[in-house]
Amino acid sequence: MISSAVVATAAVEHLYVHIPFCPKVCPYCAFYKEASERNKTQAFLEAVLRELTMQTAMLAAENRVLRPRTIFFGGGTPSALSTAQLEFLLGGLRAALDLSQLVEWTLEMNPATVSLEKARALRALGVNRISMGVQSWEPELLLTLGRVHTAGQARRSYEILREAGFENINLDLIFGIPGQSPAQWQRSLERTIQLGPEHISAYNLTYEEDTEFFRRFSRGEFIQDDEADAALFEFTTDTLQAAGYAAYEISNFARPGRECAHNLAYWQGADYLGLGPSAFSTIGERRWAGVRDTAAYIARIAAGESATDFREHVPPATRLAERIAFGLRTNRGVALETLTPWRDDVAAHQEHGLLATSADGRRVLLTRKGRLVADAVALTFVG
Ligand SMILES: C[S@@+](CC[C@H](N)C(=O)[O-])C[C@H]1O[C@@H](n2cnc3c(N)ncnc32)[C@H](O)[C@@H]1O
Ligand code: SF4
Repeated sequence: MISSAVVATAAVEHLYVHIPFCPKVCPYCAFYKEASERNKTQAFLEAVLRELTMQTAMLAAENRVLRPRTIFFGGGTPSALSTAQLEFLLGGLRAALDLSQLVEWTLEMNPATVSLEKARALRALGVNRISMGVQSWEPELLLTLGRVHTAGQARRSYEILREAGFENINLDLIFGIPGQSPAQWQRSLERTIQLGPEHISAYNLTYEEDTEFFRRFSRGEFIQDDEADAALFEFTTDTLQAAGYAAYEISNFARPGRECAHNLAYWQGADYLGLGPSAFSTIGERRWAGVRDTAAYIARIAAGESATDFREHVPPATRLAERIAFGLRTNRGVALETLTPWRDDVAAHQEHGLLATSADGRRVLLTRKGRLVADAVALTFVG
């Protein structure tokens, strides 16, 4: 009898694609991006598709296959690409990949770059979730944030997305904006709830290094009031939960079944492949990132070279620590048995009211108080 050894092929189920173009650079944002340069983008699109071929060949050599359950086009602003460019890129991706297992394909949009033609094309290409940056509905705060769109335009863009058939939309909001009153934040939340998106991300403004906001903050032009921010955070959680949005992660709220599957997989420690400049990948014990320079990215890929600029070994203990840190940020928390080596730390955090156990006693969760200091609690489990 002939026996054949079957070697299992492991699937990488999550794909991120970074599009580093924005209609205008916002002064608070540290994501890798540049103001759109149309002449660069066709070469960029070709580079992404070529990088996909290179990365899938590398995965095949390790007996892995890319079979995405989720795809996330982030940035930057993917919707800064024209309809024809999106058709070229997403069409190329569709042709190259096995999408039989795909459940969620998200694309980030800026309200200034939405049109009915583009939205319909994206829907036809298989994108089924849109994440749009609204940030605020207050004209003066949109000015402070240096946004390129008005509140009216954000509203029209949302309606266009619905008209194009999108049934799963996230809107991003920011609180803690310089000059923002609690009443303004309340109005922004209420206006967002009235529109009825499936998902709302509410981020506390962070002063990121190498941004104009950080420089202004360092000069004392802006101040950060941690207590006021904590109160806004509590108010946000209460308001959104009362409106039917579960707080499934510290900054993320969703109607039942509308959590972002891509981000959840990431928080739960799944492997993912990232394409494009600055995009991270984590597969097994390897982590790497593409160069944070679009011209260099294009040149390297065109020359058949790797665009990787950063490599790191992530041993299982590090990945476990990350899973705990991210897991605690979610409403599922972390299995109690996972935390056995830190039993004393968990007990101490429970005593201080930062951690609690789930009703069935099997999982450990951040309390409301703990959510305010989630990063500090997570540090306990590193190393
Ligand atoms: C990569 S942007 C994608 C959306 C799109 N580019 C736009 O701005 O409309 C993702 C989101 O990150 C959030 N964000 C960016 N910088 C931030 C900061 N410094 N503090 C808090 N949230 C921030 C914004 O809410 C933004 O919509
Ligand atoms: S917030 Fe969005 S549009 Fe503004 S710079 Fe960042 S990625 Fe670009």
